[in-house]
Amino acid sequence: MKSSAVRTAIFPVAGLGTRFLPATKATPKELLPVLDTPLIQYAIDEAQAAGIERMVFVSHPSKAAIERHVMDDVRLRSELRARGKPELAAELKEASFPVGSDEVVFAMQNEPLGLGHAVACARDHVLPGPVAVILPDDLILGEGCIGEMIEAYRNVPAGHLVATMQVAARETRKYGILSVCDQEGRVLRADGMVEKPDPDKAPSRDAVVGRYILDGSVFDDLSAQTPGAGGEIQLTDAIARGAQRVGLAGFRFSGQRFDCGSKAGMLRATLHLAAEDPECEEVLQEIVASRSSALAA
Ligand code: G1P
Repeated sequence: MKSSAVRTAIFPVAGLGTRFLPATKATPKELLPVLDTPLIQYAIDEAQAAGIERMVFVSHPSKAAIERHVMDDVRLRSELRARGKPELAAELKEASFPVGSDEVVFAMQNEPLGLGHAVACARDHVLPGPVAVILPDDLILGEGCIGEMIEAYRNVPAGHLVATMQVAARETRKYGILSVCDQEGRVLRADGMVEKPDPDKAPSRDAVVGRYILDGSVFDDLSAQTPGAGGEIQLTDAIARGAQRVGLAGFRFSGQRFDCGSKAGMLRATLHLAAEDPECEEVLQEIVASRSSALAA
């Protein structure tokens, strides 16, 4: 059993969000809402529920709005109180971090050099021990994925644990793919990982999605990493390099994952949450009824 707790979560949020232009011209993609909550907030809530003590956001100078969302805004709160909305002011305070708190750090990734480079930018700000990495684009609903992984990590004999799900063969070129040796329950023991292989070269169909728990040595592996797929510094390559030394395992999480880096995924996630929200029932029924009558006509 490992004693070192996972205390830090790294959120890579520097990407330009080109797939969502023009929506992301002035608004960071992490602030796009799924129903009524920005993507980044789901990721923060997941980390908080898992007992994470420090969140390191690796952002870009053009995305200052993320910081404004995450940190407390004392002026806005006093304005709300002055306008007779003290409950709203209290809610905002509850959902944000006080300025100067050491629970939150913003580090800048000035150039888009890849996910591995983004994680490396957090190095000076993490607490000792293994670190979690959460990609807010991958929205995972249901049981908190990073919490589930932290629980499993205690008993898994591997330094790197990555969230996995099975994908169709044609999809392997969208993901990091694990080279799986064997499986015990929800844990897949692996001896490597390849970034976005063609289906005929993929070692399995076990794809990695955006939740990782990484041994602290990943930072040394990242600093020695040369550009890989797409000319970027790949997190996958640094994990594969460390796999032989610290061990690597995949974890089949129980929640439902939505690829909110794509329009279809955003829509699926929104409809999924809308279907569970009584306030949306009437709207959904109207749409279904109007589509069915359009089809019948
Ligand atoms: C990144 C990782 C990839 C992983 C994916 C999960 O790719 O490089 O290994 O499978 O996230 O969403 P991206 O989607 O940023 O291209």
